[in-house]
Amino acid sequence: MKTRMIFVGPPGAGKGSQAKILSEELNIPHISTGDMFRKHLKEQTPLGLMAKNYTDKGLLVPDDVTNEMVKDRLSQEDVKNGFILDGYPRNPYQANYLDELLSKSHLKIDVVLNVTSSDEVIIKRITGRRTCPVCGAIYHIDNFPPKQEGICDNDGEKLIQRKDDLKETIVKRLDVYNKETFPLIHYYKEKGLLVDIDGNRDLKAITMDVLKILEQQ
Ligand code: AP5
Ligand code: ZN
Repeated sequence: MKTRMIFVGPPGAGKGSQAKILSEELNIPHISTGDMFRKHLKEQTPLGLMAKNYTDKGLLVPDDVTNEMVKDRLSQEDVKNGFILDGYPRNPYQANYLDELLSKSHLKIDVVLNVTSSDEVIIKRITGRRTCPVCGAIYHIDNFPPKQEGICDNDGEKLIQRKDDLKETIVKRLDVYNKETFPLIHYYKEKGLLVDIDGNRDLKAITMDVLKILEQQ
């Protein structure tokens, strides 16, 4: 079973939603750099306040800061049986850093899941997304509405719209993805690790697909 994986793909393709499902299914941690920055901001840490200058504009947070944060996270005990990286690495520099970091522990990535979707679907998904600021659950006003409008099913918390989910910021994020993150597709293809996942289907169908891929030798 492949248990060290990366989810790559444009904003709103469904990386986080899938990663959360798989994390529960496989009992391995979901490591989202975006979630980590949002948590820091919520706690008003210096890192969170610094990162906000970039995340609000749809720009990447500087590599050194991001790499260091991931290094800390991957040094924790709970990653020993595997992990799901979501939104990291996000450019070839970060990918090289990750390779070197893992190789120091004689580890490597097993598979890179490239979730693809059309720009039209992406915009609809992002503009309709609502998230829980407490438990991190992801909803969609049409696709996955909560039982009670605007309220998290898990804890009754008021759902929020991410600050970077405004239309003009989404356009910037897509542009940053195409220019900075897309080269990673080639990087991982060359290494024979890349598997394309059609993200335009329902969540369950995608999860089934991914589980099959993880079981392949
Ligand atoms: P991050 O949080 O990683 O955002 P992102 O990559 O833009 O991805 P999203 O979270 O927007 O989308 P997703 O693919 O996870 O989709 P989701 O599952 O939510 O990063 C935010 C910012 O942090 C960055 O812009 C940057 O500034 C900074 N950052 C993060 N990592 C960094 C790094 N490594 N280096 C530097 N800076 C970094 O789904 C979207 C919506 O669609 C939801 O409403 C969901 O319910 C719905 N949906 C999902 N799947 C389906 C489906 N199959 N069918 C129908 N609806 C679906
Ligand atoms: Zn919640």
